[in-house]
Amino acid sequence: MSDDVIRIFDTTLRDGEQSPGCSMTLEEKLEVAHALTELGVDIIEAGFPIASPGDFESVRQIARQFGDRTTICGLARCRPEDIDRAWEALKEAENKRIHVFLATSAIHRQFKLKMATEEIVRRTAEMVGRAKEYCDDIEFSPEDASRTELDFLCEVVETAIKAGATTVNIPDTVGYATPNHYFHVISTLKKQVPNIDQAVISTHCHNDLGLAVANSLSAVEAGARQIECTINGLGERAGNAALEEVVMALKTRSDYYKVGTGIKTQKLVPTSKLVSTVTGMRIQRNKAVVGQNAFAHESGIHQHGMLQERSTYEIMRPEDVGFLGTNLVLGKHSGRHAFRDRLATLGFELEDDTFQQVWDDFITLADKKKEVYDADIQALVEQRSHHIPETWTLSRLHTSAGTGSIPTATLELKHEDGRVVQDAATGDGPIDAIFVAMERVVGLEVRLEDFEVGSVSSGKDALGEVKVTITDGERSFHGKAISTDVIEAAAQAYLQALNKSLHARKEVSPKA
Ligand code: KIV
Ligand code: ZN
Repeated sequence: MSDDVIRIFDTTLRDGEQSPGCSMTLEEKLEVAHALTELGVDIIEAGFPIASPGDFESVRQIARQFGDRTTICGLARCRPEDIDRAWEALKEAENKRIHVFLATSAIHRQFKLKMATEEIVRRTAEMVGRAKEYCDDIEFSPEDASRTELDFLCEVVETAIKAGATTVNIPDTVGYATPNHYFHVISTLKKQVPNIDQAVISTHCHNDLGLAVANSLSAVEAGARQIECTINGLGERAGNAALEEVVMALKTRSDYYKVGTGIKTQKLVPTSKLVSTVTGMRIQRNKAVVGQNAFAHESGIHQHGMLQERSTYEIMRPEDVGFLGTNLVLGKHSGRHAFRDRLATLGFELEDDTFQQVWDDFITLADKKKEVYDADIQALVEQRSHHIPETWTLSRLHTSAGTGSIPTATLELKHEDGRVVQDAATGDGPIDAIFVAMERVVGLEVRLEDFEVGSVSSGKDALGEVKVTITDGERSFHGKAISTDVIEAAAQAYLQALNKSLHARKEVSPKA
């Protein structure tokens, strides 16, 4: 690859999924992997195969389904069993990478590994060598590199490259580095490691001090040519460098960095929304690039400037990152053709049956709501295009509540085997009553961790959007639904999360 290209290594499905409450089901991981492939990332780190049978299976399926369009990577500690397991999961991919890591800092050597420096160097050589017997594309990470003595870091990196590493990743594991410090680390490696030209230098920055993106860009200036990052900056603790931010910084300031990426930036917002939906991690309104306010201009002076010339206050165009206008589009009398055209303009190509479902939803919505906006259409498409298990569906719902009355919900759920079950419950409010009745019908007792109500577009008749997160034992599940009636949206979102939980319980342990 030429020197002006930065490889984007996405670790949303590994480091991102490791953050509390962000676990994804197999189907959700496949959906995210599909979106990342469409986005144009160069490498997808799909998981840590030895961590659990579920992780193994998701890496294997992602490798099978997307390994011909992008490189699929699996993580392994410096242990033979990890490397062998990673290979088993990855082997069907056309393009695959094994990512081997071992901590190198004094603090990790002393307290975590209880290993001397000689042992670290020996293990690195042996395990990178073992991985190399399986495949050519090997990444090595000296964990906690930014807190490692520089001479020792150089020695380990040189050893890894000699043993066959084609990418050397320099993690700022605890988010301790600052831009100048990190620049110095990467520059020192470039100067002092004799075989450094035989490998790509990579960055992997955590955001504990809010510097992950700045540090990644600093590493690029020092010569790094791969950036590890995640959608929406998900990841351990304060997260990793946000993909959308590093990519747009490099694009917007290409005059300065003089490098580019292969990312299709118009897909940033839809990918960010998808990841937010499946992980339940909300995008803060003023989040750079993909936040709802990222292109909103409030002050009169700014609005005036914008009306005269956009570039007075806008360094990126919203459409370049995939934001849609909020223009009024269609109403109840719009025909199928106009609707299909609008979908195409918004970038959606739907299979015939999905189109039919979205069209039916649109007609129902247009009956209730005078003005249907692009954001409403996008929400309708999102709702229908995720694969969500539907063991139970809601066929009837009635709630009653009010001052001086006991909040009650009566509902009917239909099982996929044809059974129809009715139940009624009381609760602290009508929504609580629905949740009590639903849990009883589906036979689960879960914890409600998060409940959020918002609106998709503007106006009194806007579509309400409800997101819920539940935990069933150790695992968390998310549900999201839209409706002009927020009580119904809450019921559908909760049922979706319960269905995911039931589905996860049913998933048999995958065989290797
Ligand atoms: O933060 C870190 O050091 C990691 C490594 C496994 C690369 O995630
Ligand atoms: Zn990390």
